Amino acid sequence: TDSQLVDPQGRHINYLRLAVTDRCNFRCTYCMPEDGIDLKARDDIMRFQEMEHLLGLFLELGITKVRITGGEPFVRKGLSEFLIRINQFDKLKSINLTTNAYFMEDAISLFQKIKIDNINISLDSLDREIFYKITRRDDFEKVWGNIEKLLLTDLAIKINMVVIKGVNDSEIVEFSELAKNNKVEIRFIEQMPFNGGCFSSDILSAEEIIAILQNAYPRMMEYFKSSSTARIFEIPGFKGKLGVIAGHSRTFCSTCSRLRLTPEGILKTCLYDHGSVNLKDMLRSGRSDQEIKSAVKDAVSQRAKDGFESEQRALQKVHFSKKKLSMAQIGG
Ligand code: GTP
Ligand code: 5AD
Ligand code: SF4
Repeated sequence: TDSQLVDPQGRHINYLRLAVTDRCNFRCTYCMPEDGIDLKARDDIMRFQEMEHLLGLFLELGITKVRITGGEPFVRKGLSEFLIRINQFDKLKSINLTTNAYFMEDAISLFQKIKIDNINISLDSLDREIFYKITRRDDFEKVWGNIEKLLLTDLAIKINMVVIKGVNDSEIVEFSELAKNNKVEIRFIEQMPFNGGCFSSDILSAEEIIAILQNAYPRMMEYFKSSSTARIFEIPGFKGKLGVIAGHSRTFCSTCSRLRLTPEGILKTCLYDHGSVNLKDMLRSGRSDQEIKSAVKDAVSQRAKDGFESEQRALQKVHFSKKKLSMAQIGG
């Protein structure tokens, strides 16, 4: 790629994860406490117009793929109009979104209109009670209804299932079966220790997940496709694919092409990076586009090799402050 963003490890950056809100209508146990997180004041959150401006600068720097995340993106009013506007950005080759599929009434026709590349849906259980136990919301029927509608379209869909030992790990094969008749990628995610929860020893590792899959599907074969977070597998006769994401053990750092922008406008060069520069503040204080682009390049030039050290620091900080760090605050 002709990206101007190349880090010290030689990794080219072309993918921006843009978190449009820190709010969410669910309260998944691995992500948030029951009462939710301390939300940012409205004025500290980027306005859509500011996001558009910054996105324009990222595109000039060589970003070609954006993934809209949150919190739950559809909680933010005006998201559809925002997507329609950024869909007109010439240099933006790929628009993607990660959602919990709760708010899908008008979204499906919107997705077809803007030619969205891919939708990743977070769904951790196919059982109403387990769904409730994880999300703390009794919304399985509604969410599943929406997913069924999505599956009937020709939109590219991935389903993300965070594997939680003793809670939903018995559903791994049932989830995989969804890929038999549907052109969908089912991705099993290693739980990352956020929200103060879970010790490393409680995590079902990517290797263990793969072993479960291999046992259920002896003819399963790995399919190569780099730079994604997921290792992808195919099973003969299946329309869809299976993926396993080593979110915690992080085997994909060496090809990581992602930057993150938090709802407040903080740029993160790694999931676990605390962020050194607030681009929204730069914009509001009248700094030029050139200065903002330089700040992005600077951050990239100091990018860490992998998230391990930063993760240790982040977890330690959480431990000492007794504060719980949520995925919704760092842009999942
Ligand atoms: P694709 O564009 O489909 O490759 O999406 P993605 O896997 O980048 O995004 P998604 O929002 O579906 O995230 C799936 C899981 O991967 C979530 O648990 C994310 O937090 C995790 N994830 C995404 N990017 C990173 C990353 O850079 N580092 C780590 N450790 N985890 C990540
Ligand atoms: N560990 C792994 N994945 C997580 N996600 C949120 N919190 C965690 C965690 N602690 C996932 C969501 C969503 C994606 C953006 O991140 O389920 O699919
Ligand atoms: Fe990229 Fe950091 Fe995630 Fe590694 S831990 S894949 S460097 S964001």
